[in-house]
Amino acid sequence: MLRVFIQTYGCQMNEADSEEMFLHLSARGAVRTDQLDQADAVLINTCTVRDHAEHRALSFLGRLAKWKRENPKRIIIFAGCAAQRLGKALQKRYPYLNIVAGAKGIEHFSETLDKSGLFATPGQPVASPVGLSAYVTIMRGCNFNCTYCIVPSVRGPVTCLPAQDILADAARKAKAGAKEIMLLGQTVNAYQDGTVSFASLLNRVSEIPGVERVRFTSPHPLYFTDELLRTLEQNPKIARHIHLPVQSGSTKVLQEMKRGYTRELFLEKIRALQAAGCHISTDIIVGFPTETEDDFAQTLSLVDEAQFLAAYCFKYSPRQGTPAAQMQLLPENILEKRLSILLNKVRDLADATYQRQIGTVQEVLMEEPHKGRSSGSFWVQTKTSHPVGNMVSCKVVKAEGTLLFCEE
Ligand code: 5AD
Ligand code: SF4
Repeated sequence: MLRVFIQTYGCQMNEADSEEMFLHLSARGAVRTDQLDQADAVLINTCTVRDHAEHRALSFLGRLAKWKRENPKRIIIFAGCAAQRLGKALQKRYPYLNIVAGAKGIEHFSETLDKSGLFATPGQPVASPVGLSAYVTIMRGCNFNCTYCIVPSVRGPVTCLPAQDILADAARKAKAGAKEIMLLGQTVNAYQDGTVSFASLLNRVSEIPGVERVRFTSPHPLYFTDELLRTLEQNPKIARHIHLPVQSGSTKVLQEMKRGYTRELFLEKIRALQAAGCHISTDIIVGFPTETEDDFAQTLSLVDEAQFLAAYCFKYSPRQGTPAAQMQLLPENILEKRLSILLNKVRDLADATYQRQIGTVQEVLMEEPHKGRSSGSFWVQTKTSHPVGNMVSCKVVKAEGTLLFCEE
């Protein structure tokens, strides 16, 4: 038996990829452990979207030198986006590293394991237990070329998985107990497989027996077609929460980022979504090299107008090889200042959004006897207890922090 410790950094795509890589390891007799000192192998699945994420993964790898010295038979696999970016240079810098498996090569992970000669001959994989909510990857890569973003170079262009395989994966997970399916892709709503559009895929997944709710992340504003909007309006199983990255509130900066939309178009899209009952969260980058005080003020005013449920705010991080990395950086103190102003605003507005839910009715998937997540992604505490996995309709009577208190 081979005990594997898995450390995943980054987005939900990476969580799903770690699961997939573990399947291949399980076919070679591996079981999971959450105790590093008891592990025979470590799988580090990495992120490189910002320097900080990459740094964390590398410093974990650095700390494993001692772990490996304690027992040189131990195996270290460094996988994912940072592995793709840094490539062979890693093995030079960390000679105790056994396998580098870049994000582009995930389809060949099984062969990579075999080629290493470190694992047993593969047998049947053993799928991990499925929770109430399950990820299903539907596409990989990205065809956009946002000027700040490293993702297209480490994950490559879009490839969509066949719809039949996606439906089979979702059906298997629903049968194993998942009530909620989260469809994943870097630009998930750009999905297309022959005649199957993203909108029709959403409908088909929602029709699988046992599936009560379908979520997806992350969509791109340009692919929010009328067909998708209509599907959302007509299908109550599609969650009323959409994470839609805006990145900046200034049309000028959006152009320099090559996002492909204006501030006005973004606002138009989210208003249509909000009219369909959706809550919107977003990603925002502060301190893009060309961002002026006025551009930043426009980001602040967009946050005021948009009524986001949440906004994940990041300081711009130059990524080698991207067009924006050639530009002159803004001073760090400006980035710090803008980030802190933005974070304060976002927090205040999120509070107001929670307060506005008082009196509304929420559809809640119970994750604990008294607690669950609503279609709009609010955490909800219910007055009476319910079986885990049940869908409960209840009315909000109070909001405290990021929790809604409801009565059924
Ligand atoms: N610097 C800062 N944030 C970035 N993101 C992507 N690239 C960068 C970068 N170079 C953010 C975007 C994206 C999220 C996943 O990470 O906001 O939506
Ligand atoms: Fe990066 Fe832009 Fe593609 Fe998102 S859409 S992964 S930000 S290039």
